[in-house]
Amino acid sequence: MRSLFLDALAGKNLTSAPPIWIMRQAGRYLPEYRSLREKYSFSEMYHTKELIAEVTLQPLKRYDFDAAILFSDILVVLEAMGRVVEFIDGKGPVIADSFSSKSDLYTLKTEGAVESLRYVYDGIKEVLPKLNVPLIGFAGGPFTVAAYLIEGGTTSSFTKIKQWMWKDPETLLALLDRITQVTIDYLHMQEQAGVHALQIFESWANILNLEQLNTFSLPFINRIIKSCTVPTLLFSKDACRRVAEFVSVQPGAISFDCSESIEWIEPKVPATIALQGNLDPDVLFASHGVIEEETARLLHQVKNKKRFIFNLGHGMKPQMDPSALQVLVDRVRLGWNK
Ligand code: CP3
Repeated sequence: MRSLFLDALAGKNLTSAPPIWIMRQAGRYLPEYRSLREKYSFSEMYHTKELIAEVTLQPLKRYDFDAAILFSDILVVLEAMGRVVEFIDGKGPVIADSFSSKSDLYTLKTEGAVESLRYVYDGIKEVLPKLNVPLIGFAGGPFTVAAYLIEGGTTSSFTKIKQWMWKDPETLLALLDRITQVTIDYLHMQEQAGVHALQIFESWANILNLEQLNTFSLPFINRIIKSCTVPTLLFSKDACRRVAEFVSVQPGAISFDCSESIEWIEPKVPATIALQGNLDPDVLFASHGVIEEETARLLHQVKNKKRFIFNLGHGMKPQMDPSALQVLVDRVRLGWNK
């Protein structure tokens, strides 16, 4: 197996180009994904091992990526805990039976809940023999998963979870503890199926102040990271704002957004932790020439770094053009000496 990605995580990439994979590399920007979606719902797709494998492989058939990411969603953990998660086109996820009172704690399954996620295990087993690069498994950070459960779906105000933080933090902590237990079991299951690395998407940690981050997010992330045996990568929106805090939980890598340069980030991260990122995703809306220039600019900043993984600051957007991503991947392959 070619493994520039695992080499970079281990600080052993001695080539003149970093490994590359892209968040949301499988998804609606790809015409082949959209044509499958005409036949199946998103839910059918992530519940079916053959479709999990097919969609995971779609971006790798087009692009010379150094890692695959499992096609699934962070909200499957809520399904395992007994909630119904619906993905509605144009609206996003909806959890009708959301978390609204302390007694809901006792309706959430924890012990053995992961058994209902066997289809993810099967999907991993299905795709692994077809891959010649490592497979990244993943889960949501407990705070982010709790936010979807409590808000009942996507929100920009987070009014309900903020009320729990101020009115009854003990119940919120008990909920986070339960989600953490299932998440640890779930990641363990992915490791047993054979994933090579695990990314934790604590996307919404950016809405927390420092004290809240240290209370409602990092202790749970810390438990998760400590329980993993394969390398971990930690993602949050606006990670540049919380470098020291994310460093404190010692993931294998931190995925950074594009609000600061690698030169600004690097001295704040110990050499044992890999950096992942951090090209502005919207660069992919620019002309091919500009995409090449911006990619080259980032490559020159990471020259000779053994622990760097090229990615976007956040994921692909459905409106993006697959040919723009090709330009970016080709430029990364040329490396930092060009
Ligand atoms: O390619 C990959 O990155 C792997 C698969 C993946 C998906 N979701 C597939 C998906 C991963 C890693 C995720 C993570 C995820 N899911 C996060 C954390 C990352 C982030 O972006 O912050 C979050 C918050 C979710 C929850 C979620 N799933 C939302 C809010 C939505 C709807 C909004 C949207 O982008 O459509 C989804 C749906 C979803 N997850 C799709 C895909 C491919 C689109 C499904 C479709 O309609 O076909």
